[in-house]
Amino acid sequence: MEILLLGDYPDDLIDRLRRDHSVRSQIDSDEIRTTRRIADVDLVVLRSPHAVTEEMLAAASNLRWIVRAGSGTDNICDSHKRYGVEVFTTPLNSWSVAELAFGMLFSLYRELRPLHASVLAGKWEKYETTGREVRGAKLGILGFGRIGQAVAEIGDGFDMEIRAYDRSPQTPPKGEKAEAFEVTFTDLDDVLERSDVVVICLPLNEQSRGLIDADRLDRARDGSVLINMGRGEIVDLDALYQAVSVGPLAGAGLDVYPDEPPVPHPIFEQSNVVCTPHVGAQTEQARARIDREIIDIVDGLAADSDYLVGPELPGYDS
Ligand code: MLT
Repeated sequence: MEILLLGDYPDDLIDRLRRDHSVRSQIDSDEIRTTRRIADVDLVVLRSPHAVTEEMLAAASNLRWIVRAGSGTDNICDSHKRYGVEVFTTPLNSWSVAELAFGMLFSLYRELRPLHASVLAGKWEKYETTGREVRGAKLGILGFGRIGQAVAEIGDGFDMEIRAYDRSPQTPPKGEKAEAFEVTFTDLDDVLERSDVVVICLPLNEQSRGLIDADRLDRARDGSVLINMGRGEIVDLDALYQAVSVGPLAGAGLDVYPDEPPVPHPIFEQSNVVCTPHVGAQTEQARARIDREIIDIVDGLAADSDYLVGPELPGYDS
């Protein structure tokens, strides 16, 4: 099978795939190069910020499968089905993402960013701030898929009262553990109005794009915090800046941005905003699980399709 790896992958994974397949890789996300290279491959593995566009699909006459190293498919053109291309995801990073959401929450509740800066500046502001305990706070979760459920599981361990908004609240959540703790499913405004902490775990789609705008942020509970682990385009960054600088929010945590890397914005100057560069999934454990899953998917497809070892090809970046 001819495989194109888009993004950075460990040597172990590349060597393992090369045992049975012709593998080339491209680390940069230059779309013109990708369009050229995708033209003659059977399978693409990609992680963000790489994208598969309509133009690439049109150029990729042999392409049959796309394996997303991760869970979000917003970087894969929706019309892939029309081109006969099947997409597989490897959604094995939910726990890592949920842990980072709590890392941000602890940071905001204990004001780690300003306190860290103050110690480095030689100050000793022991009594100038008073933190908050997470235990018992009201947790709101937007999007109750795998990540939302992992957030709920951690929140349950801190005796948090959990409310969730999901587009299909009538459907019982599908995760194995979702029934082990109490979650009240309610509408979006109710979650915003009644939660001390709101964690966004929604995928990006037409319903979620721009969902958290100025009107919605106005409804947030006074002194609450908002943490975005979904996609940057779900939250209006200007409105969020207003909400963290004049209220009602006490702070925000951002792992995702409308542009990645983000363009300069005054929100990044706010000491009550904690930012990370879309690293929710970047733990040793999540990456190892995803790498194993990629191999299993490729092996399964190759076995079903009876692919033979491909010829030696130039390896590009690897
Ligand atoms: C995902 O969709 O799996 C995560 O956002 C990880 C990523 O794309 O970096």
